[in-house]
Amino acid sequence: MRIAVLGGDGFVGWPTALHLSNLGHEVHILDNLSRRWIDTELGVQSLTPMDSIQERCRIWHQETGRRIHFHLLNLATEYERLKSWLSEIRPDAVIHFAEQRAAPYSMKTDRHKVYTVNNNTNATHNLLAALVETGIDAHLVHLGTMGVYGYSSVGAPIPEGYLDVQIDTPAGPRQQQILYPTRPGSVYHMTKSLDQILFQFYAQNDGLRITDLHQGIVWGTHTDQTRRHEQLINRFDYDGDYGTVLNRFLIQAAIGYPLTVHGTGGQTRAFIHIQDSVRCIELALQDAPAAGERVRIFNQMTETHRVRDLAELVARLTGAEVAYLPNPRKEAEENDLIVKNDQFLALGLQPITLAEGLLSEVVEVARKYAHRIDRSRVPAVSAWTRDIAKRVEHDPEGRRLRSVS
Ligand SMILES: NC(=O)c1ccc[n+]([C@@H]2O[C@H](COP(=O)([O-])OP(=O)(O)OC[C@H]3O[C@@H](n4cnc5c(N)ncnc54)[C@H](O)[C@@H]3O)[C@@H](O)[C@H]2O)c1
Repeated sequence: MRIAVLGGDGFVGWPTALHLSNLGHEVHILDNLSRRWIDTELGVQSLTPMDSIQERCRIWHQETGRRIHFHLLNLATEYERLKSWLSEIRPDAVIHFAEQRAAPYSMKTDRHKVYTVNNNTNATHNLLAALVETGIDAHLVHLGTMGVYGYSSVGAPIPEGYLDVQIDTPAGPRQQQILYPTRPGSVYHMTKSLDQILFQFYAQNDGLRITDLHQGIVWGTHTDQTRRHEQLINRFDYDGDYGTVLNRFLIQAAIGYPLTVHGTGGQTRAFIHIQDSVRCIELALQDAPAAGERVRIFNQMTETHRVRDLAELVARLTGAEVAYLPNPRKEAEENDLIVKNDQFLALGLQPITLAEGLLSEVVEVARKYAHRIDRSRVPAVSAWTRDIAKRVEHDPEGRRLRSVS
């Protein structure tokens, strides 16, 4: 297949591009490198040293003889160029990762909220409009998030996209399936909820073939392909805005920083290892909906864990200390989370679950590059409201860590 990977310079996009190229697909990356600019804005860098995207593609060619093509384009602002590029490439499938993906970044200031909404909503809508206009019948696979559903305890499993409801009509009760209601907990999650509506409309109105993957928090760093050469290494975000919970615990353990649990740590979240993430995308590509079918939605996660349990697990493994800090987010202190992922299991996914070996691998990587870490960027300081901002912890070295209780 000829596959366009939008956002292919990012944390999940890059290993996906390598995985698909390794399977023999022709891969074209589109990216505006905004994520690298955001690193500059925040004064941080990937824990792992990342080469330029052109250099990464060159090394991949040197290692495998396969080419990955790169195109610099802003999906959200360069609509005409996007149409020309799609008309030129005519992909069989498009994988859409190209959005601003950090909830804390999206909540930093009003400017960050506006940027996130403009970038993500326009990126998705430009892509949909361009596919219709160019008449390209590509299977669109989008990376959404489990976070669109919010994290209040429902007591029932979250289904894969659609909820069975009964509506009372004058003729009696009628069964229907509706999009599972969203309850976004940040501006970022709100944009992913809006994406869902855009997909529903274009699938129904124009017959676009769309799969939306509601992904859990990705952990780990290496995949089989990024391990092949030092310069194919994946990016690794450790900072308070872009670093995600389990990966952050692992780097904190590696540099002797307390594991920063926000609130009681009673938040339950869905997780998936990066190797499974790329495998799921491969599986979703093989299972495209037909034109006229509703959007296919998968829960792309393999397990759920309570944050404090993860912190305790990492602490046990590494000897690190756990620090309970005030929560910068507005969210339930404790929640249950039960998620269905039957569709990927039926397609043959064999989940990689939290294994000590893989956790230790991340700690090893973090230790190797520990000299690149700016400890003052480790705490999460982006607060969800002005009131919460007053109690957020700014102390980088954790010497005066405040307790929630
Ligand atoms: N990392 C996770 O834990 C996680 C969890 C759930 C869902 N997701 C989703 O998966 C996708 C990829 O996540 P990631 O962790 O690789 O993020 P990332 O920020 O590392 O990668 C996103 C890439 O998209 C590019 N991009 C952003 N806006 C663009 C635009 N307007 N035009 C062109 N390129 C643009 C960025 O430069 C970056 O390279 C995101 O959509 C994210 O919401 C990620």
